[in-house]
This record gives sequence, structure tokens and C-alpha cells, in this order.
Amino acid sequence: MRGFLHFIFLGCTVALSPYKYGQDIMNIEASASLLDQLYGELVDSKESREHKFNCINEGKVSTTKNNAGKSDFVEDVNYNERFAFGTFQTMNDLIRISETQQRTSRMNAHEKYLTHRSSIKFPENDDTSDLFTGGIFGGLLTFGGFKTMQCFNSNMFDHPIDIAIVGAPFDTGTSYRPGARFGPEAIRLGARRLHEGVTPVRGNGPNSKLRKVNPYDSKSHNFTIIDCGDVPMTPFDNRFALNQLYRAERAIHKHSTSGKVDIPLPKIITIGGDHTITLMALRLAYEKYGRIAVLHFDSHIDTWNPKILGGGYSDYMSLNHGTFLHYAAENGYLEPGKCFHLGLRAPYILATYDQKHDRECGFNTITARDLDDMGKEKIVTQIKETVGETPVYVSVDIDVLDPSTAPGTGTMEIGGWTGRELLTILDALEGLNIIGGDVVEVSPPYDTNSEVTSLAATAIIDSLLGLLIVQSI
Ligand SMILES: *[C@@H]1O[C@H](CO)[C@@H](O)[C@H](O)[C@H]1NC(C)=O
Repeated sequence: MRGFLHFIFLGCTVALSPYKYGQDIMNIEASASLLDQLYGELVDSKESREHKFNCINEGKVSTTKNNAGKSDFVEDVNYNERFAFGTFQTMNDLIRISETQQRTSRMNAHEKYLTHRSSIKFPENDDTSDLFTGGIFGGLLTFGGFKTMQCFNSNMFDHPIDIAIVGAPFDTGTSYRPGARFGPEAIRLGARRLHEGVTPVRGNGPNSKLRKVNPYDSKSHNFTIIDCGDVPMTPFDNRFALNQLYRAERAIHKHSTSGKVDIPLPKIITIGGDHTITLMALRLAYEKYGRIAVLHFDSHIDTWNPKILGGGYSDYMSLNHGTFLHYAAENGYLEPGKCFHLGLRAPYILATYDQKHDRECGFNTITARDLDDMGKEKIVTQIKETVGETPVYVSVDIDVLDPSTAPGTGTMEIGGWTGRELLTILDALEGLNIIGGDVVEVSPPYDTNSEVTSLAATAIIDSLLGLLIVQSI
């Protein structure tokens, strides 16, 4: 009943000294905390202000204390007593209760607010320790929150890198829809929630070492993983742009490794960009590791002879996202017979010639529908038996996924794999000597509002990270 009694006392004060009363009300407002100023008092009526004033007179509420600290109320307030009138059983009960009792009840409710509004504890005003340590929305956007540095700056080569993630914003090698130059930033956006990387499915089963991998917890592995940002690839000349990418990735290989894991060179995951960019990654991989077995997840062959796709009039038009594997084979980067197309389904241009040429480029084929007949086990067994110890480069064109799973891409083909099917096959590659990989052809302008395509690409890079890390566990 205290609130009620105080209120009576307050009434006398108001009657005797209205001027002083007005002054104090202003003081109360002036001393409101920053949050009160921003949001306003939860209860702000003439009645509540009078009550607050009364509480101050009684010494129960301080006018000076910032509500970031302790409660404004002294400790001896009896909650049960104050809430004696806090609940009403029925409408009839409510009507029977006198106006005075109702007023007392409102006073009690307001007193509760005054007490509990102060319960949040903020850090000291000069404490910033929680403001620079990440969080999903903190800092600059990097893939999964990994650290970044100027990887292409020769002054930085003594800063170790074990795994580099690098963006290749390039889409002037596309034959149909453009937009993949915006892929890297969209995929980083999709990767914001990866911070807590333990999943119950990585590695497909409890016996997989992948199950232990969490790329985003630096205490759970010894890899130094760096997001190198994007290579500034010019949109005005493909030849120069691709050369920029080559030099940038070459610079990454000049970094020392941390020495904490058994790898000779930094490994690179490239975020495309259209598929043309893979030619530069393969060139670099070949220079460091020799001939490469490429696992090419894609709905298209991409080994098209330039005379069939795009070329014929000039050299410039010959290299594009459907011919880069022809050039990789022609330049000797590929280990013949050990490369695979996986998830293939797009129409050929000149069927008989394209298939013959594709085999000449060194590829085996697992079509999208082969998954239904063979299942994951047979597919992965065939890959592993064929590839053996050969260094493997995993290139994932997002259009290997069905358009219902990944609509944001340049050349959609119906009848592809789901995200789950692709991730299951990728994780089953555990044990191969994977030296790098990429995810390409994510075109954010054609994605949905829910960014489903870049999210799929995010999960693929997450799987690639696991495959790179698990080799040293
Ligand atoms: C990291 O390296 C240290 C030192 O070699 C080793 O003791 C530890 O087991 C490694 N951690 C992991 C997760 O492999």
C-alpha cells in the first residue's frame, strides 16, 4: 500500500508548492538516461510523473544515477506487497474495486517498471572489448569472418597463409546471362552465419574425420586461413583481367605457410566470377604441382572447341566460359583420363564431335542422372580409383545444381542435383589430394530475394575448406 500513501503525501506537496513541483519534474526529465531519452518512458503520464516525484522525495529513486548501473530503487522494497493489486480475477472483481484501489494498483505497476527498467547492465562507457571481436554483423565482411590482409602486396609475403580465399569478379567471358562479377561479394554475404561451423552432417557419417572439422574455430585446427579479398580484374579487356588474376594468385603462392600444417604451399579457393577464371587457377596449379586431375562439377562440358563455341573469327572471342577446359587440356595442365565432369546434362552443340573432343581433352563423365542409378558410393569409388594420388582441383560451377536450388546463374539447365546431393558427393571426396578449388558462375542479379544461390555457393566453399583441412588431421 506504500504507493497509495505516498501519493496522498504527494498531493499535499503539490498543493503547497506548485512551482517547486514543476521544477522537480523537469529535473527528473533532465536526468533521464540516454535510453530513456531515445525511447521515452514506458509509462509517461501526469500520474506517473507525480508518483516518480514522490518516490524521489522518499529517497527510493535517485535522480542522478544513470540507469546503466544498479536499480534506481533501494533494496528493501517489498514486491509482494506492492503487487497485491496487480491481478484481477474477473470483470466483476474489477468493477468492485474502488477507484482508489485501482489507482494504487497503477502506482504499483509503475513502481515495478521503475525498478525493472534499470536491470540491464551495460559495460563501462569506455569499454570496447566486445566491439572489435567479430560477431555476425561486426567489422568488414570477409568470408566466414576470416582475417584479411593485402595478399598481393609483396611487402606482406612474410605473413603466412595456409588457405587463401580470393574473389575473381569477372563475367565478360559469359555467353548468356552476365552478373557473376558480383558473385564474390554475394557469397561472402551468404557466409556471414558460418561463424559457428560445426555441423552434424559434414563428412556424411560418424566415421569421417571431416566430422571433427570446424574451419571457423581457429583452436580446432592449425591452418591460417585468410580472405584475400578480390582481385581488381578490369572489365574492359579479358586478356588483361585474366592476367591480373594469374599474377594475384601467383603472389598468394609467394607467401610463407604457417609451418603448423604439412603443406608445401598456400592452397587457394577462388570465388568466381564466370568459369573462364578457372583457367588461370589451373595454370598456376600446373606450374606448382604438375598435371592436375580436375573434378569439374558442371551441367556443361566446357571443353568446347573454340571453333564450335564463340571462336573462329578472333582469338579474343575464342577463350570464354565454355572453352577454358579445351585450353587447359591444350596447354597440358590436365592429367588425361583422370578428369571428371560431374552432374553433366546440358545439350551438346555438335554432339558427336563434342563428345569425341571432350574425351580427347581427358575427361570421364558422370551425368546428373547417373546419381540416380549409381548412387554416391559408386560415383565416388570410381573417382577415387581413377584419380589415385594425383593432385586434384575441384571446380564447382553453381549450375551443376538444379535451377530450383540455384537460379542465380548464367546458363541454367533443368534436371540438376540438389544442394544436399552435391554436398554429399563433395564431402565423400575426403582422402583425395585436393590442392585447391573454386565456385563459379554465381550471378546475384538473377538470384532470388532470399539469396539462395549465393547461400548454396557458401556451403560448397565450406565443404572445400573441410576437404583441405581434413588432409592434415
Ligand atoms: C596443432 O599443432 C600442435 C603442435 O604441433 C599440435 O599439438 C596440435 O594437436 C595441433 N592441433 C590440431 C587440431 O591438429
